Amino acid sequence: MNQYNNPIIEVKNLLKEFDVIKGFWAKKAKIKAVNDVSFTINEGEAVGLVGESGCGKTTTGRILVRLMEPTAGKIIFAGKDISILKGNKLKQLRRELQMVFQDPFSSLNPRMTVYDILKRPLEIFKIAKTSEEKKQIALKALQDVGLKSEHLTRYPHEFSGGQRQRIAIARALILKPRFVVLDEPTSALDVSVQAQILNLLRNLRKEYSFTYLLISHDLSVVRFLSDKIMVMYMGKLVEVAPTSELFKEPLHPYTKLLMSSIPNPNPRNRKKLKLIEGDIPSLLNPPPGCFFAPRCPLRTPECDKTFPKLREVKKGHLVACFKV
Ligand SMILES: Nc1ncnc2c1ncn2[C@@H]1O[C@H](COP(=O)(O)OP(=O)(O)OP(=O)(O)O)[C@@H](O)[C@H]1O
Ligand SMILES: [Mg+2]
Repeated sequence: MNQYNNPIIEVKNLLKEFDVIKGFWAKKAKIKAVNDVSFTINEGEAVGLVGESGCGKTTTGRILVRLMEPTAGKIIFAGKDISILKGNKLKQLRRELQMVFQDPFSSLNPRMTVYDILKRPLEIFKIAKTSEEKKQIALKALQDVGLKSEHLTRYPHEFSGGQRQRIAIARALILKPRFVVLDEPTSALDVSVQAQILNLLRNLRKEYSFTYLLISHDLSVVRFLSDKIMVMYMGKLVEVAPTSELFKEPLHPYTKLLMSSIPNPNPRNRKKLKLIEGDIPSLLNPPPGCFFAPRCPLRTPECDKTFPKLREVKKGHLVACFKV
C-alpha cells in the first residue's frame, strides 16, 4: 500500500454517453464511453490509467478536470461536488485542475508567443500585479521545464515536439494546480524525446507537489510514473492495484494480455502474445455480460450473463472478474 490517504478526487458511478450514427441506415444510437466508473485518487498520489485506444481514457480525464460534463455520476474534488458546476464557479476551478494534452502541435496557439501563452493564465486569475512580476513567474515556469529565457519571445512553430510539450507542461503548472491530468503526454513524440519528458515529469512532481492522473496506452510509461494503476476496458475499470503489485501479480486476463504485449528488448524474455479468438466487441453493441468475455481464455457461462463487479481481492487490489 502507499502512504497517501487523503482523497482529493472521488469519482462515483461516472457515466458518459455520446450520440453516434450507427450502420448503413445511419440510425442514431448512444454509446457508453465511460460506463459506471468509480475510483479515488489521494492527494500526492500519481495514478496511471491504461487501456487500448477508444476505451474511454481521454473522456474520463476530460470529465475529471471538467472540460466535459458527465451524463451521470459524481466527481468530488477536495470534498466539493464539481459534477455540475457552471459559469464563474467552473472557471475558478481551472486554477486547481489542469490538463496536458497528447498533441503539443495542436494544443498551443500558433499566433501567440511563449510568453503570451504562459502569461494568459496569470492574467485570467490576476496572479501578478506588475508586468515585471508576470515575466519573472513565466520565466521560472519555463526554466523549470528546461527551456531558456530567450525562448519566451518565440512562437510554437519554432520548437520541436518535445520542446512544445515542455511549454504545454509549463502552462499547466504555472498556476500551481492541485490536480493535473496528463493525457498521453509523450505518445506524439520521438522515442528518444519521450524519456526526457517522462524524467522531467518525474522531477516536476517533486518540485510542484501536484497530484496527477497519467493516461497512456503504454504500461511501461505508467509503470515509470505511477504509484497506482487503473486498467480500463471498453469504458469500464477492470483492475486497480498499486504499481508494483500489478506488475508482480496481474489478475485480470485483460491486464495479463496488456502485460504480454510490452516489448522486451531481450528476445529470450519476450513473452508471446496470447491471441484470443473472436472479434473485439464494439461499444455500439456491447456483449450482454462481461465485455472482455469474447476475448477471454477463462470464459464461463456466467461471464456471458452479467458484468462482474470491481471488488477488492487483496488490500488495495481490485479486480472485475468472476474467475479470480
Ligand atoms: N465527442 C465525441 N462524440 C462521440 N463519440 C466520442 C466523442 N469523444 C469520444 N468518443 C468515443 O468514445 C470512446 C472513448 O473515446 P476516448 O477518446 O475517451 O478513448 P481513449 O481511451 O482516450 O482512446 P485513445 O487511446 O485512442 O486516445 C470512443 O469510442 C470514441 O470514439
Ligand atoms: Mg485518448
